[in-house]
Amino acid sequence: MNSMEAVLQQAEQCVMQTYHRFPLALDHGEGMYVWDIEGKKYLDFVAGIAVNSLGYSHERLCKTIAEQAAKLIHCSNLYYTQPQVALAKALTQHSDFDKVFFCNSGAESIESALKLARKYAAMKQKAGNDIITMEQSFHGRTYGAVTATGQSKYQKGLSPLLPGIHHVPFNDFEALEKAAGESVCAILLEPIQGESGIIPANQEYLKKVRALCDERDFLLIFDEVQAGVGRTGELFAYQTYGVVPDMATFAKGLAGGIPIGALMAKEFVAKAFAPGDHASTFGGNSLAASAGVVVLEELFEHGLLENVKKQGAYLTEKLKELQAKHSCIQAVRGIGLMQGIALTIPTGAVVQKAMEKGLLLVGAGADVIRFVPALIVQKEHIDEMCAILDEVLGDDKNVNE
Ligand SMILES: Cc1ncc(COP(=O)(O)O)c(C=O)c1O
Repeated sequence: MNSMEAVLQQAEQCVMQTYHRFPLALDHGEGMYVWDIEGKKYLDFVAGIAVNSLGYSHERLCKTIAEQAAKLIHCSNLYYTQPQVALAKALTQHSDFDKVFFCNSGAESIESALKLARKYAAMKQKAGNDIITMEQSFHGRTYGAVTATGQSKYQKGLSPLLPGIHHVPFNDFEALEKAAGESVCAILLEPIQGESGIIPANQEYLKKVRALCDERDFLLIFDEVQAGVGRTGELFAYQTYGVVPDMATFAKGLAGGIPIGALMAKEFVAKAFAPGDHASTFGGNSLAASAGVVVLEELFEHGLLENVKKQGAYLTEKLKELQAKHSCIQAVRGIGLMQGIALTIPTGAVVQKAMEKGLLLVGAGADVIRFVPALIVQKEHIDEMCAILDEVLGDDKNVNE
C-alpha cells in the first residue's frame, strides 16, 4: 500500500470518519520539514497541532526514546520509575506547582482537573461544586471536557452533558463576577484560546479573575494544553502573564509527540486526591516521561525558550508586514509561537493552496489561520512560510475560488 490513493481508499473503508482530513498521507520528517508518501516535501507550521515541539527526527529525543523502549516502556503506576519522577521533579522545579498527575492527553488532563476541583470542594465541605468555563473555549472531547468546552457545535447529540458546568463570555470580568455565586467551586479557562481562533486573555482580566478566586475561595484552573510547554517563551503561559493558577493542564508538546498529559496542582489542592481516587494505566509511563525530560532539557539547557521568544517576535513582525500588504488580513494576534491571522477570505482555500505549494497550515475557529510550529523554528523557516503565504494571498482568484 504505497500510493497515496491506496492509503486514502483503505482509510475510507476502515478508519472511523471523525476528521475532515486532507487527502494527504505523511511518511517521515526531519526538523521543520515533512514528506508525504510520494516524496513531496512540506514546510510544517502545524507540528501535529502544537505537538512536535522539537520538530521531526530530533536526534536526542529519538535516541532517548529508543534506549528507553529497549529498557522499559511501561510498568504500571503500581511501581515507581525514574523517568516519571525526573519529569515530575523538573515540572515542579520550574513552576509554582507542587504535584503532578500524569495521563495521556489534553482531554484526560481536563477530566483530572474537573474531578480534583470537585474532590477539593467536597473535602472542604464547600456549598457549591459548579464550574465556570468560557464561551468559545476548547477543552477536548471526553464528556467532562466537551461539557467544559464553550462551543455548542461540539456538544450536538451528546445530551445529557455533565451537570454543573456554566459558560460565560471570555475576557469579560463583569459577566464572570455576576455568574460566580455560592454554587461555584472553580473557574477554568485557556490563557490563550487556541482552537477558537488564537484569542489571548487580557492580562488585567486574568489578574482580576485571580483576585476574585482568592476573595470567593474558588480554584483557578488554566488549560495550557495548547499554550503551555514553552510555546509563549516561558515554560508555562501563566508565567508569561504573571498570574498563577491553582491548577494547570498540559499535554500536546510535553513529550515531543509521544502521548502524554499532565495536571499540575498546588499542594493544598493536590491533597484532595487520595490513593484510589484517580488513575491512568498508561499515565506517565517511562517511554513518554523520558521523552518529556528531553523536551524540558531542550527548553532550559539548550536555549529553546530563548529561541521561542526570538522567533516569536520575528513571526509577529513578518505577519504584520503581510498584513500591511494584504487587506484580507484583519488582525495578527497571539504570543510567542502561538499566533494567528484573522482573514476576511475563506481560510480553507488558503490552507489548501498553501499545501499545494509545499506549506502545511491549520485553521482555528471560523476565520483564523494559526501558526504553531515546532519550537526549533528558525528565521529562514519563517521567511519561507511568509513567502508562500504571500504568494497564496496575493492570488485572490486562487483563494476566493
Ligand atoms: C486548550 C486545549 N485543551 C484540551 C485539548 C484536548 O486535547 P487532546 O486532543 O489531547 O485530548 C486541546 C486540543 O486541541 C486544546 O487545544
